[in-house]
Amino acid sequence: MVGPNPEPRTLNPEPRRMSDSFSLGSFPTTRMRRLRQHPQLRALTRSTRLHPSQFVYPLFVRGGKGVRQEIASMPGVFQLSLDELEKEVREVAELGIGGVLLFGIPEKKDAVGKDSYSDDGVIQQALRVVKKAAPQLYAITDVCFCEYTDHGHCGVLDQSTGRIDVNNDATLELLGKQAVSHAKAGADMVAPSGMMDGMVGAIRKALDGAALTHIPIMAYSAKFSGGFYGPFRDAAESTPQFGDRRSYQMDSAADPAQALRETALDIAEGADVVMVKPALAYLDIVSQVSRTFPGVPLAAYNVSGEYSMVKAAAARGWIDERSVATEIVTGIVRAGATIVITYWAKDLARWLKQ
Ligand code: PBG
Repeated sequence: MVGPNPEPRTLNPEPRRMSDSFSLGSFPTTRMRRLRQHPQLRALTRSTRLHPSQFVYPLFVRGGKGVRQEIASMPGVFQLSLDELEKEVREVAELGIGGVLLFGIPEKKDAVGKDSYSDDGVIQQALRVVKKAAPQLYAITDVCFCEYTDHGHCGVLDQSTGRIDVNNDATLELLGKQAVSHAKAGADMVAPSGMMDGMVGAIRKALDGAALTHIPIMAYSAKFSGGFYGPFRDAAESTPQFGDRRSYQMDSAADPAQALRETALDIAEGADVVMVKPALAYLDIVSQVSRTFPGVPLAAYNVSGEYSMVKAAAARGWIDERSVATEIVTGIVRAGATIVITYWAKDLARWLKQ
């Protein structure tokens, strides 16, 4: 066909409508229930399958010995001392889980979060333990400051604007230092979660400058502020001492196109994997990011609040944890995530084996 400009190619084509290509049929010739009568046929016709290698299991590490402290708001999730971490990662590796995401709770916190980039910081020690106990296990580290600063914010504070806020550009340099320090201690991948502008570029530059060009970055690209991180902050002891994170994390009601811009910026700065977080209330974002950026691996973080809600209801016998957790993670994968960070990783791996 000859004519002026055909339809422009877009990165986000509308899904094709079924009726464009074939007839949908109709009852009584067509009976959808025919496909659902046999368990084997239900299995044969599935398009979403879960596998332990898709999951990343978050771990909370602290100092001391013999510490295995359950988080009250996250039953089944523990703060672990290094000796307990050793046992834990062996188990995780045996289950065939895709990787672990490490969060450190330092002995001492300060205004700039020094422990996070110190050679014998809690994460650096944890990485050495992981790499020794389970060398084949993929180790990702959270790169942020909220667990390490005494004020609990995700960077260094600045009052020069008249109100206290995180100083973006001053934080970038420290993020680079932190990422390099993690990689040198054995991290296979770094995951900046602080939503600072330019964080991916700064970390890429710092890693490359330290001859760590092979270390990938998983960017928390579209991370929304809100109530779903409450239990995590108990686990990581990272609740802000004042204020909130709304000047850096996204507004949940913001135009979804902002999430796409955030993601595009991170990709341009060198992100190897992008992330949407939380997952459940943001599955539309997971779906849009996955279709807008084909070829960029997408992670979704099934966060603490999403886990705790199910745990609390299951403890009362109101819902069945295994069934609901499986549906939730299936939904996240169906929406387009290739990596799911979830506190159910070990349970799911066991359930999938049965
Ligand atoms: C920040 C960080 C947070 C989570 C992961 N990385 C918390 C926050 O932004 O306050 C939350 C994860 C969860 O809720 O499970 N370093």
